[in-house]
Order: sequence, then structure tokens, then C-alpha cells
Amino acid sequence: MTQVNELNRRDFVKFISAGTVTGLGLLSSNALTSCSTSKNSTPFQSFKPLNPSSADELLLAEGFQYHRFITWGDRLNSRGEKFGINNDYLAFTSLNKKGTEGILWVNHEYPLPHLIHDFKNLDNKTKAMIDLERKDVGGSLVHIKINKAGRWEMVKNSSYNRRLDGTTKIPFAAPRKIMGSNFAIGTFAGCAGGFTSWGTVLSCEENYQDYYGDRDSKGKILTKPMNEWNKAYNRPPEHYGWVVEIEPKTGKAKKLTALGRFSHESATCVLARDGRTVVYSGDDKAGQYIYKFISKKKGSLEEGELFVGDVKKGKWISLDINKQAILKKNFKDQLDVLTFAREAGELVGATRLNRPEDIEVSPKTGEVFVTLTNNVDVGDYHGSIMKISPANGDHLSDRFVASDFAVGGEEFSCPDNLAFDLHGNLWMVTDISGSAMHKAPYTKFQNNGLFFFPMSGPNAGKPFQVASAPVDAELTGLCFSPDYKSLFVSVQHPGEKSKSADKYTSHWPLGGAEKPRSAVIEIFGPNLDKIINQA
Ligand code: FEO
Ligand code: CA
Ligand code: CA
Repeated sequence: MTQVNELNRRDFVKFISAGTVTGLGLLSSNALTSCSTSKNSTPFQSFKPLNPSSADELLLAEGFQYHRFITWGDRLNSRGEKFGINNDYLAFTSLNKKGTEGILWVNHEYPLPHLIHDFKNLDNKTKAMIDLERKDVGGSLVHIKINKAGRWEMVKNSSYNRRLDGTTKIPFAAPRKIMGSNFAIGTFAGCAGGFTSWGTVLSCEENYQDYYGDRDSKGKILTKPMNEWNKAYNRPPEHYGWVVEIEPKTGKAKKLTALGRFSHESATCVLARDGRTVVYSGDDKAGQYIYKFISKKKGSLEEGELFVGDVKKGKWISLDINKQAILKKNFKDQLDVLTFAREAGELVGATRLNRPEDIEVSPKTGEVFVTLTNNVDVGDYHGSIMKISPANGDHLSDRFVASDFAVGGEEFSCPDNLAFDLHGNLWMVTDISGSAMHKAPYTKFQNNGLFFFPMSGPNAGKPFQVASAPVDAELTGLCFSPDYKSLFVSVQHPGEKSKSADKYTSHWPLGGAEKPRSAVIEIFGPNLDKIINQA
């Protein structure tokens, strides 16, 4: 199957900060997959893509519609808990066999103090203001179902509706205490995530340094916290930057230390041939690495081996302290290695990448797709999607081949979240930052968007724009409903760049003079059916 469009077959993209790729290992076009489908791929035939737009609307290509069904501030339950801000990763858990009712996990990535506090007292944040922010981030579990009109809606006051936030006590799954504690207070910075074969959701703590700062393994201060929660609370930075595992029906959560601590963008699980779970994760920072974790046992991510990617050589390098003398020399124990995974990755010679964000595994081929959003420091403004082919199609192998799947700069810029549909076609959203949008070299791309790559037929590998986000927003959290009739999407941070309450840059979704609000929508329509369900 040809997966790279001729249009994108440009010079090899600089997804590596330095050097070239000389991958080892063998490709397998029919690699293993944990959830392959038996249907043939649909050739992509007639479709009119959307043109880029700067409109303050959620625009869709012909044959697509959307319906908004949860919005920032919506009341979830009788305890007065509300749906948080900046919704990102979405994961759906079915509550019935038909998949018409379920629990949606939603990450609430970061606060927007100017919108939360209506621009008041921002330069002198009080404890009460910090407390409001702590309650607005984390995650929501929301009971949703298909209504009589065929659209998804929230089940108000359901006992499944609950919040985890910046104040929730969450234990560590760890062999010892971390900074004197066996639990953390709060989860936040939850960006993308994953889900396990045993029904739990994984929420990834990404830019954790913005709340209580960050420091290295020697105690040297690395980052002062932008959100300054440390002014009101003294929390160790080492309690954040982990993958949080959540049971959707109960809200019970734990922070998994075995997967390492860094700015986790995603934690994408795939079942290995022997039934153990392999988890792929990117560290969303310029010049950081990709990681692979192999669980020790089936059905648990509490123990296992963490590897970091040497993309130049096509090799996963173990971060096991007992296998690497240099780690033994520099860290006191394995948990210390995991807590400072970036330092460990540097010591063993991992390959610096251009902001590795989401990772998804093709259900058709078992190949691993990694978005590299950009890295202005090395002249990569538009990013790319890298494809990793595990040697012999075996996710347990320590060898792989890396290549470009698609390169940004012409049809799209700054790829972020990915999702595969029933036929193994790829859906992708872009994240041009608010400060760069509409400026050179990003002007022609206008607002962020949703794109679709057919993976077979004459247009295989060619991106088609399906949606355009409102002003300042990015679309995130791509998640298909069980019947593939709806694509759930987070519309995150519309109006983020607003400077005052009488000059919002966006009024989405309520319009008029309203404050902008993040929300979850479903995209549906005849063209979605045509692409996915061959209607
Ligand atoms: Fe939260 Fe990497 O985007
Ligand atoms: Ca992201
Ligand atoms: Ca992003």
C-alpha cells in the first residue's frame, strides 16, 4: 500500500534535530494489530475539501454537520461540579452493547486565568483565584447517550458524572514514596491520553511545569511556574508529569510511575503478540524524545520496562538502571531514573525530535504514526508526521524503521492529534499556536483545522481539510463513537488571545458579545458516513 502522496514526497523532512535517519530492521506490510478490521479500505472518491478560513466559526466541508453537547461551565451533578475549561483528550467507554450510551472522559488541560477571572486582578492572584483555577482543570467523566433525535447529549445529574481536578488526592503506583509522599494532590495539564484493553483511561500530564515549577535531579530550578499556584500551595514538581490511569465508572485514579515522567502528550496502547501491553508516548517539547513502555504483566501498567527512541539508528534504548551502567552511575534507583526520564534519555543518547506530540497505531498495518509538531529552533516551522514500522511488525522488538508519512508546509502546518477510523484512514488536527497564527510563515493556513488522509486509493496520503476551528482555537481529542457515525472533537481555547472582556477575539460558541467557551462537539453527516461506513 502506497502511503506517501507524491505531493509530499519532498526532501526528507528534518524531523530529527540533527543528522539523518538510517533505520534498521525489516518492514512488514501486514504487521500485527490489536484491533484490525476485516473490511477492505474505501477508496476516497469525490470530496470537496474546505478552504482555510479565519472566520470565528466551526466551519465544515460539504456533507458534514456538527452538534455541541458539553460546554465549559455546564453543571454535571447535584454536588455542583461543573464541566472544566479547555477540554482536550476524549475517550468513550460504552455502557451498553449497542454503544448508544457511555461515559466520556475529557481532559481539561490548562486554565485561562483571564477568562476564568474575567480579567480582574490578574497581576496579583489571590489564593481564592488559584483555587478556582485548580477546580477548572483536570478531567471530567460525563455520562452521554444518543437522544431521540439521534444526537449525543449529556445525562444530567447521572451518578457517573464527576470531576477529577487540581485538588484531587491521587495515589502513586510506585515502589516507594516520591518526595516523601505516596500520593499527589491534583492532576492538571492533561493533554492527550490513551485507553487500555481492560477498560481504563490514561490521561497524560503534559506541561506540568506551569503550576508548581520544575527542577532537575540535582535540585536545580528549571522553570518558574507561569500559573503561580506555588504562591498558595507548596507542592513538589516531581508529583506531576505522569500518566494517570482512571476507572471511568468509579473515577478511581492512580499515577503510573513506570511510564516515566516528562511532558506526556499521549499514551497509546497496543497489545503485543504475547498479550502484554505496549504504550507509545511522546514528550511534547522541542528537542525531546519518544518513548515505548512494555508492561511486565498482562492487564497492568504498574510495572514494566521503559525505552527511549534512537530514531537515527532505529532502536529502542532501555532505561532499566540494571542494564545501563551510565544510569546506575547517575541515579539512585529506577524510580529516580523514571522521575527524571529526560535526563536519562539524554545520557543514553536518545534522538532529539521536533516536538513529538500524538502517537497512534494503524489498526490496519500496525505502523506507528507520530506527529512532530514543529521546532522553530532548527528551522522546522510546519512539522511532519513520522511513521515508525516495528521490525517484523513486532511491537516488542527493539528495532524499527522511521520514515516520513507527510510533511507540513503546503497543505497543513503543525500536526497534533491523530485518530484512525474503521478503515485505517487517518484523521489529524493542527495546532498552530495563537501567537504564530496568521503571521508568516503560517498566514496561508489561517485558523487551525481538521484534516483527513485516505490511506488507500488514488488519493492515499493526501490531506483534505474537513473543518476549520473558531478564532484562536485548536481542535483536539479526536474520538469516534462506537458506530463510527460521529466523530467527537474538543474545541479548545477559542478566544484565548482576548485582551479584555469588551474585546473578545472569539465569541464561539454562543455568539453575540458572549465570552468564548471551550466545548465538545460531534461531527456527523453523509460524507462522514461515505468515508467511514461506505454508505
Ligand atoms: Fe497539549 Fe502537546 O499539546
Ligand atoms: Ca496536543
Ligand atoms: Ca496542542
